[in-house]
Amino acid sequence: MVDRAPSGPGASLDPKALRQALVETGAIGSTVRQIAGRMGANVPPVAAALTALEERGEVLRLGRGLWVLRDFSELSEREDFADPASYAERFHAEGGVGLGTYRGPITFRANEELPVHRWWPYVQGYSAEFVADLLRRAEQPDGRTVLDPFCGSGTTLVEVRRAGCRAIGYELLPPSALAARVKTRFELDPTRFEAEARSVERRARARKPGRLPFLRETAQHFLPDVLADLLRLRDALPSGDASLAEALRLTFGRILIPVSRLRRSPCLGYGPTEKPRREVFPSFATAAAEMATDLRALRRDRGSWGPAATVVEGDARGLELPKGSVDLAITSPPYVNGMDYVMNYKLDLAWLGYASSYADLSRLRTAQVSCDNLRRDEAARYLQVDPSSDPWLKEILTSIERNVRTKGSYRRQDVHGIVNRYFADLRPVLAGVYRALAPGGKFVLVIGDSLLAGTYIPGDLLVARQGAELGFEVASVEVARTRRSGQRRSFRLRESIVTLVKPTAAA
Ligand SMILES: C[S@@+](CC[C@H](N)C(=O)[O-])C[C@H]1O[C@@H](n2cnc3c(N)ncnc32)[C@H](O)[C@@H]1O
Repeated sequence: MVDRAPSGPGASLDPKALRQALVETGAIGSTVRQIAGRMGANVPPVAAALTALEERGEVLRLGRGLWVLRDFSELSEREDFADPASYAERFHAEGGVGLGTYRGPITFRANEELPVHRWWPYVQGYSAEFVADLLRRAEQPDGRTVLDPFCGSGTTLVEVRRAGCRAIGYELLPPSALAARVKTRFELDPTRFEAEARSVERRARARKPGRLPFLRETAQHFLPDVLADLLRLRDALPSGDASLAEALRLTFGRILIPVSRLRRSPCLGYGPTEKPRREVFPSFATAAAEMATDLRALRRDRGSWGPAATVVEGDARGLELPKGSVDLAITSPPYVNGMDYVMNYKLDLAWLGYASSYADLSRLRTAQVSCDNLRRDEAARYLQVDPSSDPWLKEILTSIERNVRTKGSYRRQDVHGIVNRYFADLRPVLAGVYRALAPGGKFVLVIGDSLLAGTYIPGDLLVARQGAELGFEVASVEVARTRRSGQRRSFRLRESIVTLVKPTAAA
C-alpha cells in the first residue's frame, strides 16, 4: 500500500502522511490541492505521488479531480451509505410503487438525425420518439393541450404540434427558447428563408468585423479568421423577433460551437484533440439548407398540424395557466446539482445578444433551477432545512452537510444548500402543473438521481414524493437507462420516467 514510497518526482513525500491525508478524505475524495493542504506540502509533488500510486492501482481518481484510496472505492460497503436499492425498497414499502422499466430510446442522441430536431442539438434533451410514444399512448385527440414547463429546445412542442395538439412551453434560457420558437414555426417559407440566408451572407462578406462579445476568452475560442467572419456574419443578421429574423439567428447560433475550438461533451470546454477546421460562411449556408429541406418535408403533413405553439420565455416557477386548461404535461427538469446551463450556453447567450455582461449571466443563473454553480449568497438562504420538508430530504441534506463538514473535501461547503434549493425550486412548478391539469391529466417527468459528497440522492423518487404531497397519485416510476456518476465513475446512476396523475376527483 501507500507505505511503500513511490519512486519518481513525488518520492520525497512522506508516504505515511499521504496515506493519512487520504484516510481523512474517506470515500468522498479530495482534490490534490486539498490533500496537499492537509499535509502542509506543495501541490506538484503531491500530484506526482498520486499519479505514481494511481499507476500502481493503489489510489483512484474520481470525476472532478477527486482522489480516494482504493480501500474506500466501494461506497456500498460503508455503513452510513443509503444506496439506490434501499431507497427503492422504502419507496415501495411506503407508497406501494416499485421501480419498473421503460424500453425505448430516451436520450437526445436519437434526434440528431431527425428533421427539425437536429436544428439545435441539445445534450440535455430527450428523444422525440419518447414524446411521440407518450402522445400515442395517451390518445390525445386533436386540439388537446400539452404543456412542457422546462421545454428546452422544444422536443416536446415539436412532437405535440406534429400530432395535432396545442403545445405550450416555458423556458428560461433565451437561446433554448429561441430554438423552441423557431422549431415550432412550421409555416416558415423555406424558399424565402434560403434566399434571406444568402443575402445575409452577401452582406456579411462586404462588412468589416465588428465589436467582440464581452466574454473574456473570445480570442481563444476561435481561430482569428473564423472570429472575423463570425463577427461579420453576426452584424449582417436582421434584428427583431419576426419569424425570419429569428430563424436566421438560430442558424447563426447553430454554427457557433462547430466552427469554434470548443465542444460540448456535455459541458462546454476545449477538447483533448484539435477539431477539424470548419469555415464560417459555408457552415452557415449548409445549416440554412438543412433547415429549408426539413421545412419542405414538414409541409407534406400540414393538414394534421396542431395550432401555433406558445413558448413563454420565462421562469416555470411562476407558471400560471388557467385551472384545468392542460390535458397532459411532459418534461425533463434540470437534475439535482446538474449542469450549469448558463455556463454551458454562455457563447450562445453572448453572441446572440441575450447577455452583454457577466452580471447578466449571473442574474440568469440565479433564476434557473439550482445548479452546482449557484451563487453563494443564494445557497446561503437554504442552509437551514425547513422542518416541514420531506423526511427523506432532511436525511439526505443532513448526510451531505455532515460528510462535507467532517471529511472537508467537497468543492463547496454549502452544497446541501444547493440541493435544498433545488427541491424548493421544483415545488412551485409541480404545484403550477397540478393546478393547470384537468382532473385525470398526467404529468410525466424524465429525471435522474445523483451522487453528491458521498450521499446518494434519489431525485426521481423525491420528486414523486413531492408530487404525492401536492395531491398527485404516483402512477409509476420506470427506469429508462443507467449512466455513470460524474463524481465516481464506477457508480451507476439512473434516469427514470416518473408518471404522476391528478386524481379525477380533484377539484
Ligand atoms: C433537461 S432540459 C429540458 C430539455 C428538453 N426536454 C429538450 O428535449 O430540449 C431542462 C431545461 O430547463 C430550463 N430551466 C432551468 N430552470 C428553469 C426555470 N426556472 N424556468 C424555466 N426553465 C428552466 C433549462 O434552461 C433547460 O433548458
